[in-house]
Formats: sequence, C-alpha cells, structure tokens
Amino acid sequence: MSTTESDKEAATAEDLRELSPEEVMLAGADADDVHIVHRRNRFPIAGTKAEKRVERAVALTFAISGLAGLGFIVAFVALPYKWHLPGTPQNFRFYTPALGGLLAVMMIFLGVGLVLWAKWLMPEEEAVQERHDVPSSEEDKLMTEATLLVGLEDTGLPRRSLILRTLGLAGGAVATVPLVALVGGMIKKPGDQLLHTLFRPNKALFPPNGHVPLVFENFRRIGPDDLEPGGLATVFPGIREQVNGYTGVTDASSPTLLIRLRPGQKVQARKGQAGWGWPANNPEFLAFSKICTHAGCPASLYEQQTSRLLCPCHQSQFEVLSDAKPVFGPASRSLPKLPLGVEIGDDGRQYFVALSDYHEAIGPAFWERR
Ligand code: FES
Repeated sequence: MSTTESDKEAATAEDLRELSPEEVMLAGADADDVHIVHRRNRFPIAGTKAEKRVERAVALTFAISGLAGLGFIVAFVALPYKWHLPGTPQNFRFYTPALGGLLAVMMIFLGVGLVLWAKWLMPEEEAVQERHDVPSSEEDKLMTEATLLVGLEDTGLPRRSLILRTLGLAGGAVATVPLVALVGGMIKKPGDQLLHTLFRPNKALFPPNGHVPLVFENFRRIGPDDLEPGGLATVFPGIREQVNGYTGVTDASSPTLLIRLRPGQKVQARKGQAGWGWPANNPEFLAFSKICTHAGCPASLYEQQTSRLLCPCHQSQFEVLSDAKPVFGPASRSLPKLPLGVEIGDDGRQYFVALSDYHEAIGPAFWERR
C-alpha cells in the first residue's frame, strides 16, 4: 500500500484494523518516514521444490551446528584428558583440540545457516529511514506491532517447521555448551595429577632403582663436576623412552634449578627436608622447582652474593640458604625442593638423579586448592 501525507493523517486505529498485517506494516513504515524502496518475496508461491531445496540446505547447516554441539558435550565427558608418562598412549593430547574444533564447527555452521536463511529465504528489501522524535501514538503502536508480526512472517518460521526444529537444536547446543564447560569444569576435578611431575620414580623407565636422571635441555646428563661453586643450571627430568628400537631421552619437562653453593655456605633446611640436598649430610648441591609459586613465571635470576633467587615477573625473592623460602614480594610459598642423589653412569662418572617426585605441588599456590 502506498500512503500520501493526507492518508497518513487519516489512518486511524479503526482503518488499520481493516488492513492485512503487511499493509499495516508498510503504512507504519511510511508513517515513520521509512520508505520501502524495494521489496520482493523470493518465493512468491509457497512450497515450491526450489523453496524446499533451499530450506533443506539451511536446515542442514543448523543440524550440523547442533550435532557439533552435542559432539562437544560427549567429547568433554568421554575423551581421555589425563597426562600419561611417555611410552604410554598419549591420547590426552587430542582433548583440547577436539573440544576447540567442535566448538568452531558449531559456531561457524550456526552463523552460515543464519546468513543463508536471510539471503535465500527472507524477502529482499531495501528501506530508507528518516529519524524523528515524537511520542508514540496508539496508531504507531499498532503499526509497530504489525511490523514485528510481518517480520516474524518474513522469517518463514511459523510455516518452516524443519528450520524451526534444526534451529532449536543448534540454539540448544549453543546455550548448553558454555554451561557444560563451566559446570563440568567444577565437577571434573584434576585429582592429584598436579602433584606429580615427570620426576615421578618409575622402575620400568629407569631401571634398576627408578631414579629419574637430571639432564640439560640438550638431554646431556649433569654431574657434580658440571657446576662451578656458586653456579646454577636449569635441568629437567630425563625420560628414557623406547621409540622404534631407540632407547634414550626424548622428552623433558618440569624445569628445575640445580644450585651449587659456595664453600662455607650452610643450608637451614625446612622441616623434613634436611637430607634432600647432595651430599645428604652436608649439602653442597640443592634442587628447587623453577616455577615461581606466585603466578608461575621462571624464578631463575640467581644473585650469588646474597644467595637469593629472583622472579622477574613481580619481583618475588627466595632465600636459597633457607630452602628457597620467600623473603620479598607476592610469593607466599617456598619453591618446592627436589630430593637429590647421585648415581654412577655407564661411563663411570657421577650423575645427578631425582630420588623421588616433588613432595609439594609445583607452581602457583592455587594448584594446591583442589
Ligand atoms: S610470578 Fe613470580 S613473582 Fe609473580
């Protein structure tokens, strides 16, 4: 319907009730200075094969989105996510990529479906609007109501039950997935896995005693002769693996600071940790976790003169001669200490080993609040 200025003034609520929703919507648009320049129904005859084909294509994208959401929930609950020692199946590595991939498929197909729906099924329309500010009259309210009704009709939702159902599936998945991730994260506790590192003794991997060798990052073993007095080295647990007939160190993690004290320096050990340095009765070498107990940065700046370790992130300082007790900054927990020992290697030299795992959770304190 096309309205002139006088028509607009004459249009009363009575008149509008006589018109179809689309006519009232157009009158409303005109009254609000919105000029519909072009409007075309893409499928003037409802229910044609072409329309059904397009409808199925849109529904397919929503269905894929919904199924990916369901897949996310199943993967979140069922996939293995716990870390395993090297040499055992490493399927946990796929946990996060699988969740991320399914989430991406869910969001992408939902977005693609919405765009296709608007482009292929909803009426094509171009409108130009001039804005004005007057309070809404009864007629305006009726017109607005009609505009919303026609908008709903334009989406085709009332008569396209296939799209409605698949959109419901996709929408339900989009709404449920964040809930699963949030609530599931609280239900699925990490257990004690944060308390164990690669230093965990394992007789199968480290015969005969299960002691984990300490290695440099190039996997070379470290012995007492490798450090000068007052020196420090970053070392890792050397995990021996059998891969394709090769037996050796192929993985390294759980960074540790190995420190050699200067002559005459004495350690005031924390309770129960007196024998954890090497030699046990009068330690000259000590090993601490390199991961700061404040927020997890590497606490590796060592000041020989004051025997303090400094974390560069927020300036926490740890007193090495007091078993890495925090003496400055935001860290409130000592760096965990690694029980240190020495064994004779194949070449007859002495090499350091970890006699056990760390006895406290390494890293930020919140890991202990399980
Ligand atoms: S992470 Fe070390 S002080 Fe903050």
